[in-house]
Amino acid sequence: MATSPLSVEVHNPYGRFRVISTKPMPGSRWINILVDAGCRVEVCTEKKTILSVADIKELIGSKCDGVIGQLTEDWGDELFAALKAAGGHAFSNMAVGYNNVNVEAATRNGVAVGNTPGVLTETTAELAAALTLAAARRVVEADSFMRAGKYDGWLPTLFIGNLLKGQTVGIIGAGRIGSAYARMMVEGFKMNVVYYDLYQATRLEKFVTAYGKFLESQGESPVTWKRVSTVEDVLRLADVVSLHPVLDKTTYHLINKDRLALMKKTAIIVNASRGPIIDEVALVQHLQANPEFRAALDVFEDEPYMKPGLSDLPNAVVVPHIASASKWTREGMATLAAANVAGKLKGCPVWHDANNVMPFLDESSKPPAASPSIVNAKNLGLKILTAAKL
Ligand code: DGY
Repeated sequence: MATSPLSVEVHNPYGRFRVISTKPMPGSRWINILVDAGCRVEVCTEKKTILSVADIKELIGSKCDGVIGQLTEDWGDELFAALKAAGGHAFSNMAVGYNNVNVEAATRNGVAVGNTPGVLTETTAELAAALTLAAARRVVEADSFMRAGKYDGWLPTLFIGNLLKGQTVGIIGAGRIGSAYARMMVEGFKMNVVYYDLYQATRLEKFVTAYGKFLESQGESPVTWKRVSTVEDVLRLADVVSLHPVLDKTTYHLINKDRLALMKKTAIIVNASRGPIIDEVALVQHLQANPEFRAALDVFEDEPYMKPGLSDLPNAVVVPHIASASKWTREGMATLAAANVAGKLKGCPVWHDANNVMPFLDESSKPPAASPSIVNAKNLGLKILTAAKL
């Protein structure tokens, strides 16, 4: 039976390159970037949250130069082969993470893979901080209690939670987002830091040291940092543990039953990275057995689903993968994804510093003639725009 085509909204119908965005994205700058690069832009407006591989193949059709895709889509061999067959060679995820993308398959098919670093850092760290506070002070439980009309007067024992000040925040993965979150917890709540990362987080260490000295100069207790050599050390020492590693074979189920058992009975675990970092079944069991233990999750192992039992637990705070959902960040992500595709289609080099993408986001000037971040640039032999040529 023939199916009706997926609905699309078309911008610049006579553009010479055909670019698909599998979802409408916030803002309009991203569309302008593609139109200025001579693209006909087709935005899929189908009312279906997650597009299947078959849906995306249908969108690609027989002629497609580039695609902007989403982290919910399975970008493997099948889609990259379809894109190559349609004459395409540019793809960008609208996300900094790209565990949904088989980069090797893309490279094999000659397709550049872009991502969107540098605009999510503070926004994601802020949501991790919000989750931490919500869990520590039982904000969601208390809100439900109010809405249910159960509040009949102040009580000394009502919704007692954890004070963060002076406690220890543990960071697993102290890269950009992990370090930004740590700084917020140090500066905002005067927490001490313990972290595990393969690399030394020098800037974070310097910040905590300097802030500790400032507090001392004001007659307050200093804050401290400690880098430890195992994940287990963080779990044993911290009152709050926030997870910020990338998801790969080495971090899949990094937090499992045995490691949860090492944590303090009143600890809080926060995850705004990727769901499969935690064995969610083990977490549900741990939360059931330890009512004083709390979890605050933005991401889930089988997204969009939660493991059975999780949604019934009052000691879990759950939100639908919204860590990057600030207007500025989401518009920035769309802009960077479009600039990745436009840059590749125009034959521009790749930007020299994916961590410093602000020139692409400044609305008052033209974006640089480059793709901001192509993760397989080296393997595809793409030129890098060196600082000297700026
Ligand atoms: C990303 O960009 O990887 C985030 O998970 C989106 O929120």
